[in-house]
Amino acid sequence: MRVGIDTAGEERGRDAEIAYEAIAPVYDEFTHHHDYELWLGNLLPELERLGLRGNRLLDVACGTGKSFIPMLSRGWEVTACDISAPMVELARAKVGDRAELSVADMRELPELGQFDLVWCLDDAVNYLLDAEELERALRGMRRNLAPEGLLLFDVNTLFAYRTFFAEEVVVERSGQRLVWRGRASPDAAPGSIAEASFEVEPLDGEGTPIPPEMHRQRHFPEAEILATLERAGLECLDVYGHGYDGIPKQPLDEAEHSKALYIARSA
Ligand SMILES: C[S@@+](CC[C@H](N)C(=O)[O-])C[C@H]1O[C@@H](n2cnc3c(N)ncnc32)[C@H](O)[C@@H]1O
Repeated sequence: MRVGIDTAGEERGRDAEIAYEAIAPVYDEFTHHHDYELWLGNLLPELERLGLRGNRLLDVACGTGKSFIPMLSRGWEVTACDISAPMVELARAKVGDRAELSVADMRELPELGQFDLVWCLDDAVNYLLDAEELERALRGMRRNLAPEGLLLFDVNTLFAYRTFFAEEVVVERSGQRLVWRGRASPDAAPGSIAEASFEVEPLDGEGTPIPPEMHRQRHFPEAEILATLERAGLECLDVYGHGYDGIPKQPLDEAEHSKALYIARSA
């Protein structure tokens, strides 16, 4: 147990950890189409335009390493952490000692160093279920920034909750059927909590099934993120939106873009 002061709070605080323990063995299969070279290739020039210098990266909520591996090949020194021990183990199996990896909850992020870039990618922030949790996470990220360092994170938009989180998605790969069942409403409200279950069925009858586990995320409207950044001692430098092409656009359009991106630095 990592956070929470009562029984309900304890369970809620472990939602993401439990969900990722279940999905970890098939996470890379389910997200095989996520092209980080393309995504980061679009984002790094924006960060450089806003003053990115140096080569020390902290990847918060690094998952299986998909978000930081492209930075190793660009010569960056990488430190990374995630709340899910099985996800961190998968990352470690890919990179060995080429990155400093640990298990950590971003709501209680330790001081891991002074980083030129701290990022938290692919809607990990949406697993925080209220503004107080978001503020704690952002304060922790700020404490890890070098004086001129930059923070980048993305969140899912209303469009994402009204589509991906409201639909069934089935992926058949490597002899398994991976089933995502979105339970959100196609008119999900700003700031609402959206749920989706994820399960795995072996197609040949011999593999190991994974019973349904719930992914619970909260939508964070732009105004709430901006106010929370300020309370956490961060200055927002730019906001972008993008669709499935991953090309950052301005202004952010919650009805059209699937992700919102925020770049900030210490105030
Ligand atoms: C969609 S995955 C993204 C992983 C990785 N950033 C990527 O882009 O491939 C979301 C990750 O957030 C992690 N996560 C969720 N809540 C967290 C928390 N409170 N602290 C740290 N990691 C968390 C999950 O364990 C999961 O690995």
